[in-house]
Amino acid sequence: MAPRLLIYTGKGGVGKSVISAATAVKLSDMRYNVALLSTDPAHTIAHYFGIKEIKEEIKVSERLVLFHVDPMSELMKKFRAMSEYAIDWFKKYGIDEALAYELAMLPMVTEAVGLLKILDLIEKFDIVIVDTIPSAEALRLLYLPMIVTSVHKKLIKLSLTTARTASRVLSLILGSASKVGKAMEEEYLFFEESSKLTQLLTNIDITSVRVIANPDLSSIDEAVKTVGLAQVFNLNVDLGIVNKVIPNPQDEDTRRLQEEYINRFITSIYPIPVKKIPQLGLEVRGLDKLRKMAETLYGDEDPSKVYYKGKIMEIKEIGDKYMLIMRLPPGITDCLDIVHHGDELLIQLKSERGLVEKILPLPTLLRTARPESAYLEKGTLVIEFRKTT
Ligand SMILES: Nc1ncnc2c1ncn2[C@@H]1O[C@H](COP(=O)(O)OP(=O)(O)OP(=O)(O)O)[C@@H](O)[C@H]1O
Ligand SMILES: [Mg+2]
Repeated sequence: MAPRLLIYTGKGGVGKSVISAATAVKLSDMRYNVALLSTDPAHTIAHYFGIKEIKEEIKVSERLVLFHVDPMSELMKKFRAMSEYAIDWFKKYGIDEALAYELAMLPMVTEAVGLLKILDLIEKFDIVIVDTIPSAEALRLLYLPMIVTSVHKKLIKLSLTTARTASRVLSLILGSASKVGKAMEEEYLFFEESSKLTQLLTNIDITSVRVIANPDLSSIDEAVKTVGLAQVFNLNVDLGIVNKVIPNPQDEDTRRLQEEYINRFITSIYPIPVKKIPQLGLEVRGLDKLRKMAETLYGDEDPSKVYYKGKIMEIKEIGDKYMLIMRLPPGITDCLDIVHHGDELLIQLKSERGLVEKILPLPTLLRTARPESAYLEKGTLVIEFRKTT
């Protein structure tokens, strides 16, 4: 069986950790060997299993192992020379030691090093579940090594082949030649591994990103942004989840708003399917509750299946125009208004059941273009943008 990598993401507190844990329990009950990876320094995920003693590797059950990775110690373990090289470099420029450490541990590097653990785990387990990425911005960090790699790898390879000369020059500035050589080797390994990771992440048969929101505007908007960004980076989002849905709200305003927000989410990420989980008491803790949550979320389905493959929008360039084409859920009869809201468009649609709003985070390419017209065509919404010069 080809391995699967499931990444649960969403705004802080939406339920990433419990949903990852619940999914891991269900999949291990289905006899898959599952690794659950967390880089959360607070170790909350272990608490959800009722585990108090925190270790790097915890065997929760026969087929489920929980891994806590501390990106900083991982960085020092695998890439010590590379980090020390950077620290020395900063110190040479008169930056004091404490600040040099801070600068050398750039978030991009530390985050990426934490995620490199995936490469080990995917070799050993059927399914790897990641409860790590707290926001849409983190997707950028995930992808950055790949961008740097293509240019940087060539340079490093080149300098490794002429390492003796290179390290002799650098050692004049930084000291020991072997230290510089080791740092360069580690840097090469780092870019090699992050490039492998990016290949894994962009393989849509292996990796699925699942975005979680609660029925509130800010977490929904964040989730929609994540889908837009994932799309640009060729990561496949196969499922949206609205967690903590209030069942049958008594208050009319709450009922109406909740429905409006959920519809906004469904319309904005269509045709990616959206599932809902109700508010289940005060806390979801312990195997029984995690199983109950998984049952509500997946029913009889196999959570490791790919729920959706593909993009949610297409951009075509025609002369001095861009056409943005998006599929719409059934029942939409008209496009009433489009409002520019910073880097997103707010689109008002008329459906058979009333008004629906769709948010569209604009890809960078379209941010400087001017939306000119919009129309419905065979179940799709087409927006025409004129290029500005
Ligand atoms: N459906 C639900 N019903 C009741 N409580 C829930 C539900 N989903 C999550 N919770 C509770 O909400 C809180 C936040 O959940 P969780 O820690 O999984 O969020 P998170 O997205 O991982 O947060 P962070 O961004 O801080 O890591 C926890 O106390 C959890 O038990
Ligand atoms: Mg969490």
